Amino acid sequence: MKINLPQDWKLLKKKETTSTNDEVKNLPVGSNKTAVCAETQTGGRGRMGRRWISPKGNLYVSFCLEPICLEHAGIYSFLSALALAQAIEKLCPSLTIKCKWPNDLLLDGKKISGILLETNGVDRMIAGIGVNLVEFPKEKMLYPVTSLAAEGYSISVPQMLESLLERFDFWNTQIQKQGIKTLLDAWLEKAYGVGGPVTVNLTNSRIEGVFYGLDQEGCLLLNKDGEIIKITAGDVFFGQTGNSENVR
Ligand code: BTN
Repeated sequence: MKINLPQDWKLLKKKETTSTNDEVKNLPVGSNKTAVCAETQTGGRGRMGRRWISPKGNLYVSFCLEPICLEHAGIYSFLSALALAQAIEKLCPSLTIKCKWPNDLLLDGKKISGILLETNGVDRMIAGIGVNLVEFPKEKMLYPVTSLAAEGYSISVPQMLESLLERFDFWNTQIQKQGIKTLLDAWLEKAYGVGGPVTVNLTNSRIEGVFYGLDQEGCLLLNKDGEIIKITAGDVFFGQTGNSENVR
């Protein structure tokens, strides 16, 4: 299947690579709006230094955006997650995807994808996205895991990539024209756990409260006995309080 690319986008296809994020990190200056995808990754990375096992059949892609202001790089968490949630729901109309702060996607509480945002430390955003189309890790994970095939949908890599690129480009254009409010509002509509308990593990302490919403920059707002606390970093656990597992 030939993929229709949004205007100005380029796509580089690899059979195998260590990590599509590495590929994007090594692109020459002037590679804004380049996507690199691979059939398999030998050194796929997840967050918190975890591995992202990358068998054939799933989507592994990284997007290059530059120049960006590193100070505002966090917004791409919401952009990537929302774009992916909408892309999946368009292809799989019976599925409802929830966005878990800052950039996980859950389907009935099960992880269907992974997003790893990196920068080159200067002015390049690298948004690496993996979607479980056919395979998912069988070992015990922090969350239950699923794939679109396991949910009854046979979606090919090109189909998923085309849908994702269209949504990613839409939101990228939108924030440049109109700022980030519409994006954050749309993300919040799909947010997981609003009004529910949240535990935040900071370096030397733990805060428990209720997920209140987002501030204008996308920081998580937590209501602790009527006091609204802004969370910019730390490990956030939704659901049962008192659980100390790391989820970011
Ligand atoms: C997570 O831990 O949830 C994030 C996983 C991110 C995986 C994707 S696959 C494409 C890109 N290349 C990588 O090495 N990682 C990301």
